Amino acid sequence: MSARIERLVTAGTFSLDGGTWDVDNNVWIVGDERSVYVIDPAHDSAAIAAAVGTRTVKAVLLTHGHDDHIRYAREFATLVEAPVLMNTADQMLWEDIYPGTTPDGAIVDGERFEIAGTVLTALHTPGHSPGSTCFYAADLGTVFSGDTLFNGGPGATGRSYSDFPTIIASITERLLSLPGETVVNTGHGDSTTIAAEAPGVLAAGK
Ligand SMILES: [Fe+2]
Repeated sequence: MSARIERLVTAGTFSLDGGTWDVDNNVWIVGDERSVYVIDPAHDSAAIAAAVGTRTVKAVLLTHGHDDHIRYAREFATLVEAPVLMNTADQMLWEDIYPGTTPDGAIVDGERFEIAGTVLTALHTPGHSPGSTCFYAADLGTVFSGDTLFNGGPGATGRSYSDFPTIIASITERLLSLPGETVVNTGHGDSTTIAAEAPGVLAAGK
């Protein structure tokens, strides 16, 4: 059986720079009936573990270190006995939640995560945060974009460790170069496509 994509929406909060906001997160489960990767297991470890069921979690892949994406990652990873992986450029965000510790491993640009006959390739796309990473599954015609690209445009860059010119460059160079029909599965809200978002990104970058 080939890889399939499951989406779970979980609810909680996001805190940064002294503010806290309610937020719904997309949790993505990619794999088959035997094993999966879980991308950004936010807010509700028990619900995500229930969705995974008896399948093996090869790893928890984090798109970036913002607390809504990582606050429950360690708890979830312990529940399912999987390692947590993240780009080390977001270590300062990790330490806001898990002081004095690191994730179990680092994700580097171009790293390949094989699952169920397909591959998720890590694309380092800094801007929303320094370590922001997308996961591209060419076989599935999908990129998991975290908070780098949403249905409606680039992710937020108004808070600490974010940079607008950097996110525009990342999206332009790394995401708009993907086939236009590529489905963008985001960290929050509805999915979109590269072709649908390209004009807005290019206009924002001018
Ligand atoms: Fe974020």
